[in-house]
Amino acid sequence: MSETLREIVQKRRTFAIISHPDAGKTTLTEKLLLFGGAINQAGAVKARGENRRAHSDWMKVEQERGISVASSVMSFDYGGCSFNLLDTPGHEDFSEDTYRVLTAVDSAVMVIDCAKGIEAQTKKLFEVCRLRDIPIITFINKLDRDGRDPFELLQEIEQTLALDVTPAVWPIGMGRDFKGCFDLIKDHLNLFDKGAKGTLPAKAGDINGLDDPMLDALLPADLVQNLRENAALARELCPAFDRAAYLQGTQTPVFFGSAIHNFGVQELLDALIAFAPAPRPQNAVERVVDPQEEKVTGFVFKIQANMDPKHRDRIAFMRVCSGHFKRGMKLTHSRSLKQMILHNPVLFLAQERALADEAFAGDIVGLPNHGGIRIGDTFCEGESLHFKGIPCFAPELLQKVRAKDPLKAKHLEKALAQIAEEGGASVFKPVQGNDFIVGVVGQLQFEVLADRIRTEYDIPVLFEPTIYYTARWVKADKDMLEKFEAANRATCARDHDGELVFLARNAWHLNKAGEDFPDVKLMTTREQSVM
Ligand code: G4P
Repeated sequence: MSETLREIVQKRRTFAIISHPDAGKTTLTEKLLLFGGAINQAGAVKARGENRRAHSDWMKVEQERGISVASSVMSFDYGGCSFNLLDTPGHEDFSEDTYRVLTAVDSAVMVIDCAKGIEAQTKKLFEVCRLRDIPIITFINKLDRDGRDPFELLQEIEQTLALDVTPAVWPIGMGRDFKGCFDLIKDHLNLFDKGAKGTLPAKAGDINGLDDPMLDALLPADLVQNLRENAALARELCPAFDRAAYLQGTQTPVFFGSAIHNFGVQELLDALIAFAPAPRPQNAVERVVDPQEEKVTGFVFKIQANMDPKHRDRIAFMRVCSGHFKRGMKLTHSRSLKQMILHNPVLFLAQERALADEAFAGDIVGLPNHGGIRIGDTFCEGESLHFKGIPCFAPELLQKVRAKDPLKAKHLEKALAQIAEEGGASVFKPVQGNDFIVGVVGQLQFEVLADRIRTEYDIPVLFEPTIYYTARWVKADKDMLEKFEAANRATCARDHDGELVFLARNAWHLNKAGEDFPDVKLMTTREQSVM
């Protein structure tokens, strides 16, 4: 009997992993894929840790875009569910892209290094999840190394993130003494097997609760005593797992494990199946769209250009929000109101791309295109809807860019327009003058952009300092916009969509503009192409 749309949607889990660099996101991703059967050996995802982040190496990865893209969406099946794991770029300088990826997931896994606790990037990413009420499962990693006391870690999560915590398992020992975890929800023991690195672990021994004498037979007496005391204390101090609170994003179940040794990965996957939400309804400007609706809808949250440098192709990543998507179907592109036939949609497996014959809510489909699709665009079957909430951030750093060869200025303009559409940087054309101002959220991005423009468009460029300090999108009615522009011509610009932007010279200048025009809103973000 064929499955109903409802049954298919209920089995989908679309999630991302959020963490500070080095906490173990790549390792965990790899192990999740290993369990899902999507890869068959560890080390297949990509270079780990420092290797990957070494500056030159990172550029190389960016240039070999096939690799980074193939792994930016990973789909695998496990335990009767279809998982879509969306990669969040790890580098601190590139968080903007990460924020947008988080608009396309239904839940997240927060990975924390047990020796370090909550770090800067974890906190930043968590705040984005909170804004969108994204439910979070916490995975405290590297228990095979000495780390901080579990109670201290739980308290830190609770206090720094203002989030209720409930341990789903309790660790037994740590570092060299790490023996495994006691599952507080299922009331059984999972023993740690150090030899399991790179392979699947042996099945955990079944134990009936903390009082089972088998525990005394299996573990050293001091560790058993500690476990009994601490688990009892944890149950007393922390609330019991409450799925409704988890789904609202106010409580996080906490797992302890060692990704590199495959320990705790299976429990994490089981928790994603049991607790994590299936695709959730999505808000469009016009109405709320239910994932089980028959008609297809979806929005674009990421664009990656020049995946194949030989062909100027670009792929728009669309999250399907409802319906039964089929290859070759005709959808309305809401921004242009044009009908588009999607001939060659692609699905992303762990290491390769495959033609997508069909997809459902929660799935990510790649749409090859030549520049007509932008971040934030909505596709619909029949109706014209506009999904909300895909942010575009005010760049924190601004520089002037020019082609080293003045004859290439026109080409540079085109390249910048493409990069802006892709969401790689903000590009502003001042109302007066011929320069382009490029805005980014991290310093390293200028270097990466210069490298990309040189290799992909064959235009050597120079980035130079500007007098501008920050950019704000100007929002007001038409009359007021014209007045604002007339009064600030020397410091007004347009973004790639023609929206008015104010380029402030310093904090005082920004304040003054706000005071002079109280009816104008100077926005640090703008939602992309909504109407
Ligand atoms: P990231 O994507 O969050 O940046 O982290 P990644 O997985 O790259 O892991 C960062 C480092 O932490 C890597 O070490 C990795 O092997 C190590 N690691 C990940 N999980 C565990 C764990 O459960 N236990 C221990 N002890 N280490 C773990 P590296 O030295 O940077 O790289 P490599 O030489 O091991 O590949």
